[in-house]
Amino acid sequence: MHILRGAAALLAASHSVVLAAAAEASASDQKLPPYRYPKYHPDPKRANAVRQAFRLSWDGYYKHAFPHDSLRPVSNSYEDDRNGWGASAVDAFSTALIMGEYKIIDQILRYIPHINFNQTESEVSLFETTIRYLGGLLSAYDLITGPLQRYFNYTDHQTRAILHQARCLADNLKVAFDTPTGIPDNNLFFGPPRKKGSTSNGVATIGTLVLEWTRLSDLTGDPQYAKLSQKAERYLLHPRPALGEPFPGLLGSSVNLDTGLFENGAGGWGGGTDSFYEYLIKMYLYDCHRFGHYRDRWVLAADSSIRYLISHPTTRPDLTFLAMWRNRTLHYFSEHLACFNGGNFILGGLTLDEPAYVQFGLDLVSSCYATYAGTLTGIGPELFQWQDSTTPLNATNNPGPPGEQKRLYDRAGFWITNGGYQLRPEVIESFYYAYRATGEKKYQEWAWEAFLAVNATCRVGSGYSSLADVNKLEGGGWTDFQESFWFAEVMKYTYLIFAEDAPWQVRADHENQFVFNTEAHPIRIAGGRERYGIWGYGRGDI
Ligand SMILES: *[C@@H]1O[C@H](CO)[C@@H](O)[C@H](O)[C@H]1NC(C)=O
Ligand SMILES: *[C@@H]1O[C@H](CO)[C@@H](O)[C@H](O)[C@H]1NC(C)=O
Ligand SMILES: *[C@@H]1O[C@H](CO)[C@@H](O)[C@H](O)[C@H]1NC(C)=O
Ligand SMILES: *[C@@H]1O[C@H](CO)[C@@H](O)[C@H](O)[C@H]1NC(C)=O
Ligand SMILES: *[C@@H]1O[C@H](CO)[C@@H](O)[C@H](O)[C@H]1NC(C)=O
Repeated sequence: MHILRGAAALLAASHSVVLAAAAEASASDQKLPPYRYPKYHPDPKRANAVRQAFRLSWDGYYKHAFPHDSLRPVSNSYEDDRNGWGASAVDAFSTALIMGEYKIIDQILRYIPHINFNQTESEVSLFETTIRYLGGLLSAYDLITGPLQRYFNYTDHQTRAILHQARCLADNLKVAFDTPTGIPDNNLFFGPPRKKGSTSNGVATIGTLVLEWTRLSDLTGDPQYAKLSQKAERYLLHPRPALGEPFPGLLGSSVNLDTGLFENGAGGWGGGTDSFYEYLIKMYLYDCHRFGHYRDRWVLAADSSIRYLISHPTTRPDLTFLAMWRNRTLHYFSEHLACFNGGNFILGGLTLDEPAYVQFGLDLVSSCYATYAGTLTGIGPELFQWQDSTTPLNATNNPGPPGEQKRLYDRAGFWITNGGYQLRPEVIESFYYAYRATGEKKYQEWAWEAFLAVNATCRVGSGYSSLADVNKLEGGGWTDFQESFWFAEVMKYTYLIFAEDAPWQVRADHENQFVFNTEAHPIRIAGGRERYGIWGYGRGDI
């Protein structure tokens, strides 16, 4: 991996200073473990318990909601919240493949050719459609034509239909990019495909397309999809004006479609901007030859986060969260969505051979764990806040907790500003990366605790439901909705942390064959094929 090391060495000197600070900021003088060949501890009993939860919720969905998008498990009904193309079926596909759930795989395989991506009643989100449907289809195709090919007739029409449908969908979506700048309008209507006419788009919704659209081009040999997504991404890699980049590599959140200029300087590692940062390093992992500049921008964002955003709660200085920003003013709140950041720092550290990023990621992971351990249900809240220990306590950006939450804050180091839980994966996702980097059983235990808490509180009727308040008895009641990402993400990451090693598992030794999109759909790494040359597309067994 000399390419990676050489490139990392070229980075500016200030970078090493930041990393040294990170190493110091984290577990003090403890010797950094070698994140290369961790010993893993598969646990078939626990993996099987997760499989049972997957089967149970799939059967509930199949009986009461399929082929609609999402199950309402309490009322045994459904909702078409993702355009009615069967979002849960497509989102469950890669998880079923990884678990080897052949009855479920067969049900989904037979359904895919019948989706009509030309029609929908409701508004289409380019971002949500890309990460759930396009990501789900491409991942299934990559798994079936790759490591699972011996279980399938991968030249038959069902397999080809998966890629064909992905392409049909993208052909309908691509009208989004038809703007003066090439930055897509995220909001569309189909039948026929047309833009809604938005004037701006968000950083995450622009910057979380490039993996799926590049993969589609690499699989079909048609470069148009990669070109569209990469042209849009350029406005995020070269942000203008200065307002849009308040800290090096850390951006605002809204970009004008006509000018390509940033409209504000407010951002964070949370919803609205999160997966833009996530994909910078994942693109480099996908193909280090084409996406070196994406790596440089990730390093800049990671270093700025360590230099400027680290915050410790006054009552729990052992915890490390990343603050949000409005221009250069920090705000001390975060959210469940942002808890992917620990896993992303770990993946960056493994990919770039920088143990300090891994160690910093582990600190973020244990702090997100604390948001689970601190509540009555053992599940973390949607939104939380804290008081920063180095900012004056009377500063307007550093308020203390409201009276009724003071006891929670004293004990747990955060208070809750939205206690909902929508079956989100990010905390377990980061446990997974922490485990794959270190092999430490602690992270399996944390994932198991989280799974037991979710299984005890969200399990109802024909599936698993979102909750009203994680800090109330029984989660404050069920809100009767099972998001499609329950299947794609929560079930997959929880299963993988207990499962046997496999080609799709994240690796610590630079031999990754897959990279997970932001919906946890594993996409086959382009470099993997070149390096190993063992899997061919549409060719016979080698
Ligand atoms: C969708 O529209 C395309 C382009 O008009 C057409 O080729 C295709 O057959 C249509 N698919 C379905 C399922 O109607
Ligand atoms: C696989 O599918 C193709 C196309 O339908 C068919 O020609 C071929 O016989 C099938 N192979 C096997 C082993 O079933
Ligand atoms: C950020 O800076 C811009 C330009 O200086 C200013 O117009 C805007 O009000 C600032 N926003 C906040 C939230 O302070
Ligand atoms: C905060 O308190 C300090 C010291 O008492 C004082 O000098 C400062 O003006 C106060 N700041 C605000 C924003 O009230
Ligand atoms: C999950 O919940 C179900 C239903 O309450 C229960 O039967 C099952 O044993 C639970 N799984 C674990 C691992 O506790």
